[in-house]
Amino acid sequence: TSPDQTLAERIAELKEERSAVILAHNYQVPAVQEVANLVGDSLELARAAATIDADVIVFAGVDFMAETAAILSPEKIVLLPATDACCPMAEMVTAGEVRVLRERFPEAAVVAYVNTSAEVKAESDICCTSANAVAVVESLDAEQVIFLPDRNLAHYVARFTKKEILPWDGYCIVHDRMTADEVTAARRAHPDAEVLVHPECRPGVIDRADHVFSTSGMVRHACASSCREFVIGTEVGILHQLEKKCPGKVFYPLSKKAVCVNMKKTDPAKVLVALERCEPRVTVPEETAARARTAIERMLNLPR
Ligand code: 13P
Ligand code: SF4
Repeated sequence: TSPDQTLAERIAELKEERSAVILAHNYQVPAVQEVANLVGDSLELARAAATIDADVIVFAGVDFMAETAAILSPEKIVLLPATDACCPMAEMVTAGEVRVLRERFPEAAVVAYVNTSAEVKAESDICCTSANAVAVVESLDAEQVIFLPDRNLAHYVARFTKKEILPWDGYCIVHDRMTADEVTAARRAHPDAEVLVHPECRPGVIDRADHVFSTSGMVRHACASSCREFVIGTEVGILHQLEKKCPGKVFYPLSKKAVCVNMKKTDPAKVLVALERCEPRVTVPEETAARARTAIERMLNLPR
């Protein structure tokens, strides 16, 4: 048995002993995806965190995802094996800034992308993810919508709604680096491929893509499509799920540099240590959690 196999076996034993589940984001390294109970996008993982039967959730992702799980399931122990795994975009807006925006635009609704802190969610009316952002905005009564923190996702949503979207100026350091020229070059190199990109990409990249999807949306589309080749404009970790779920199809990353270092901080060894020690634990003070929960549950309760 290889060291990886031994680790995976020990993790499986401890999952059983502790009644634990491992939820992993699509960007996690393959070895972590392979020990997870569920691999998915932010929306699927939030839904699972709210409903899954377990005493312990090990969150293989970044901090806002584990916080969301802790908010939705306060009775469960939520562990984040890599304590320093954060999302730089989530740190681009603060709760104080949201309060100032509310004063300046009292008629506007506030939509917080899940890539935000619990404090920011607590100041917001409703959350969204890349999979449901348009539906969330369209569900609101308000005609003016403050959308934060991702300016690119805000611009993407604005294409599909008559509401006035007021974007915050945050961005994902991984997706914002992809360029329209890279799409042009990829099309030249792979003329038969469909180009799928994430809505965190810049408007010029979106304009040149064939389809825009959340990470799991890309996997579903690629499996169902009659096309055999795809250029993938998101973080490269998704390639593992794409290749696994769509055997026989070929995937080219739009940019090999599209690596989220924070998503790579978790490895099976850290997952094992977290399960052994039952830490590092993520908790959210109930005062903040209660208000943030309202915003997240509003999103989860929308018709699918
Ligand atoms: P998804 O919800 O599409 O998985 O995206 C999460 C994320 O962090 C994108 O950078
Ligand atoms: Fe945050 Fe971007 Fe990493 Fe997603 S890929 S976790 S948005 S930094």
